[in-house]
Amino acid sequence: MLESRLTTLLASPDESNSLLKSFDNESINFENAKTFPIIQGIPIFLEGNDRNASTNFYEQFYQSQAEPWAYSERAAEVLRHEYVAEQVAQIYKEKGKKLIILDLGCSLGHITEKLHPYSEVLVGLDIAYTAIATAKKRCEEVIRGKENPYFFVVGSCLNLPFREGAFDVVVASDGIWGWFENDAEMSKKAVSEIYKVLKNNGIVVHTDYLHPNNFPKFVELTLSSPFQLIKEEFLYDRLWYRTESLFKALKSQSWVKNLLSNVGFAKGLKQIAKLLGAKYSKHISIIAKK
Ligand SMILES: C[S@@+](CC[C@H](N)C(=O)[O-])C[C@H]1O[C@@H](n2cnc3c(N)ncnc32)[C@H](O)[C@@H]1O
Repeated sequence: MLESRLTTLLASPDESNSLLKSFDNESINFENAKTFPIIQGIPIFLEGNDRNASTNFYEQFYQSQAEPWAYSERAAEVLRHEYVAEQVAQIYKEKGKKLIILDLGCSLGHITEKLHPYSEVLVGLDIAYTAIATAKKRCEEVIRGKENPYFFVVGSCLNLPFREGAFDVVVASDGIWGWFENDAEMSKKAVSEIYKVLKNNGIVVHTDYLHPNNFPKFVELTLSSPFQLIKEEFLYDRLWYRTESLFKALKSQSWVKNLLSNVGFAKGLKQIAKLLGAKYSKHISIIAKK
């Protein structure tokens, strides 16, 4: 059942001035007559090719593996997720109130599940229905017994189904660079959608995985919409990824699994990488303000 808090955030994908007209358990209707289905309580805001699961690369990926990218077994990813949650905690402290947050490309909800202490409303969006269904379940378990700020929707970062100025914070972690690596215009369109749905003074939190030589291009991409850069940080995780590829042939051995899932080990490598400089980072993080 779609709750009333979400209805105040929604607008038709592609036409952010076309607001919600009506909804029931099965569909959502906008003033421009566009209608989208709701499946198991999850609105599906996909159009055209994106709507067809068989053409959705990510949907197939999630159907074929329980945890693509094996985030929970890889300590560098666990640290990155914690880092993103810390950034949101900081924004929450500075704003002095609970936030309306969009976790864009939220995958299975590893970051989303950590953000509820800072959220008045917390929307997780991904293009893959299977990912969203799992994220919803995960977050509902985490929040059980407390007030539930979570809403999950399927949609595309290129056509966000939200009003202009709906959110205090948009988290887009490992998103805008990798989604359209070979298409700068699409990446810029994703950034402009984020810009659009943020309130004035709203904050975007980006992280992405890329070669350090491309870090300046990543900053440029964020600033392709008129954001003010607040902070640029490196996650100093390159030694960890190097270690992972070094042991690739042995990855099924339990001692290798234990090593790579050991957060203390990943933190140690991070300290060494920090001494070596930005080139020893594979992830960059950008915090910017509208
Ligand atoms: C690399 S994962 C990152 C997941 C998570 N944000 C994190 O930081 O661990 C990228 C996610 O973006 C989703 N995605 C890919 N293209 C998308 C699009 N056009 N719109 C929304 N989500 C998309 C994928 O399904 C996937 O779950």
